[in-house]
Amino acid sequence: MTAQILDGKAISADIRADLTQQVASLTAQGQRAPCLAVVLVGDDPASHVYVRNKERACEQIGIRSLPHRLDSATAETDLIELIDTLNEAEDVDGILVQLPLPAHIDADRILGRISPAKDVDGFHPSNIGRLLQRRPGLRPCTPYGVIKMLERTNTAVAGKRAVVVGASNIVGRPMAMELLLANATVTICNSKTRDLAEEVGRAEIVVAGIGKPEFVRGDWIAEGAVVIDVGINRLDDGRLVGDVEFEAAAQRASWITPVPGGVGPMTIAMLMHNTVEAYRARQV
Ligand code: GUN
Repeated sequence: MTAQILDGKAISADIRADLTQQVASLTAQGQRAPCLAVVLVGDDPASHVYVRNKERACEQIGIRSLPHRLDSATAETDLIELIDTLNEAEDVDGILVQLPLPAHIDADRILGRISPAKDVDGFHPSNIGRLLQRRPGLRPCTPYGVIKMLERTNTAVAGKRAVVVGASNIVGRPMAMELLLANATVTICNSKTRDLAEEVGRAEIVVAGIGKPEFVRGDWIAEGAVVIDVGINRLDDGRLVGDVEFEAAAQRASWITPVPGGVGPMTIAMLMHNTVEAYRARQV
């Protein structure tokens, strides 16, 4: 079997086009545009690129973006004060604090300070808890984007054996909860998993999010499996590769996401979706 490509660029473009229309119809009715506050602390080059991409997506859709770029020496108390101000601001619908934060700042404390109603990343313990309890509020963007991609394969998730490789707070854990919400039979693998090849080999859906280049070997993949690669790793020779050995996996999978152009664009699209959703929820 040679896999069909799950094109994240095309799927995310559809989602963004739909959001653009929604925002246009809101503003045509005289309502204000949704607004996303984006907070970046320090000078991590990759974070600057991600934040610029998020701001650009806002602009294209008609969402107002409110940038806050802070010095790497910013005190935690000052950041908390900013979050409190944004929580209170009537015209701010979403608050995104780009990770990683500098080491002297407690990221969990900051993420927990964001009002759950404005937590467009879906990382607040309240939003994670709601997802766990089958009554999702704002949902973590990357796992939510993966669910949207799976919908495009027209294969049911319910009843399928899904294996998530990686158990991070941002990807693996919420991904497992999303798959469980969709009634898959879910296995979460972590760095201590004994026979990873065997676990992956049983999967009808594989989601890899471990941050190690081509760690999931193509010959582990079961014939006909759907393979979703959340990883993005730059090799010494400059190439970008995922967490899955793409060419070999594509020989066996029914569907596979490319890197780049797979899950990455979906994360931003779902952030925009969450911002519009947070806006709507605050209007009532
Ligand atoms: N850093 C890496 N991924 C993410 C993400 O999804 N949201 C935020 N805020 N920071 C990140």
